[in-house]
Amino acid sequence: MQVISTVNEMQTCANDLRNAGRKIAFVPTMGYLHEGHLSLVRKARESGDVVVVSIFVNPTQFGPSEDLDKYPRNLDKDLEACESEGVDYVFAPPTSEMYPSGYSTFVNEESLSGPMCGKSRPAFFRGVCTVLTKLFNIVKPHVAVFGQKDAQQAAVVKHMVKDLNLELEIVVAPTVREADGLAMSSRNSYLKPFQRQDAVQIHKALQKGAAIYESGIDNIDRILAEIIHHLSTVRRLRVIYAEAVDLETMKPLRTRVEKGHTLIATAVWCDEIRLIDNIIL
Ligand code: PAJ
Repeated sequence: MQVISTVNEMQTCANDLRNAGRKIAFVPTMGYLHEGHLSLVRKARESGDVVVVSIFVNPTQFGPSEDLDKYPRNLDKDLEACESEGVDYVFAPPTSEMYPSGYSTFVNEESLSGPMCGKSRPAFFRGVCTVLTKLFNIVKPHVAVFGQKDAQQAAVVKHMVKDLNLELEIVVAPTVREADGLAMSSRNSYLKPFQRQDAVQIHKALQKGAAIYESGIDNIDRILAEIIHHLSTVRRLRVIYAEAVDLETMKPLRTRVEKGHTLIATAVWCDEIRLIDNIIL
C-alpha cells in the first residue's frame, strides 16, 4: 500500500494507472475509519481493480460553530485498517495541499442541497461538492463509492456528477450498523455510554415508522408523526428534522409513500452530538 500526501504525486499516479488500463475505484472519507467505511472499500474492490481511499477532514464543510477542531483523527490506525483491507493507495493530504493560501473557488449544487442537512448546516454541501470535485480531479476515479448512511450527500453527489458531466460512476452502498442498530459513524466516538443508550433510539424510531408502513398505513404525515413522537420521548434527543423526501430528487413528499422511492431521514441532537440516520420505505 502506498500513502500519498501531495496532489501532484496523486495525479501522476492516477494518470499512470489510467494509461496502464487500470480501473480506479475510489472511497473518499474523513478518516477515523469504521466498518461502514470498510464496507465501501470492499464494494470498491468489487467495482475496480485499484482501490484508492482518501483521508481528509475537509474544513470547508464545517460551519464556524461545528466540530472541525475536535473531529476524531487517528491516521496510523486508519492506515492499518486500509492495509488489512488490501487498499492500494491512501491519499491523505494536509489542508495546505487542498486549500493553499488564496484558494477561492467553490462548487454549489442548488436544488437537492436545499432541505434537511442543507437547511441545518448551510455550509455543508458547498464544502462537500467542492472537496469532491477536487478529489475527483486528483484521484481520477472510474467509480466512487458512497454510503447510504448519508443519503442526501449521495443524492447530491450523483446529481453534481451528472450536471458537471464528470466521467465517473457513483455507487451507493447500504448503511452498516452496530449490533443494536445504531448507524456506524465516526461521531459515535463522542458518545458516552449513557448517551449511546439514547442514540440507539434513532434507528428504533425509524424502524417504528417502517413497521407502521408495513402494517398498511402509507400516509406520510402519520408515519412521520409516529417517528417524531418516538424521538421526542427519549431524554437526550432533540429533533433537528424528520422528513420524507424522494430518494433521488430530495423533494419533500407530502401525501403517500412511493414504494422504494421514499426516504425518511432524520437528524437529531443527542445532547451536543449531531447524529443522522435514514430508512428507505
Ligand atoms: P465520512 O463521514 O468519513 O464518510 C465517508 C463515507 O463513508 C461516506 O460515503 C459515508 O456515507 C460513508 N459511511 C459513513 N458511515 C457509514 C455507515 N455506517 N455505513 C455505510 N457507509 C457509511 O461523508 C464524508 O466523510 C465526507 O462528507 C466526504 C464525502 C469524505 C467529503 O469530505
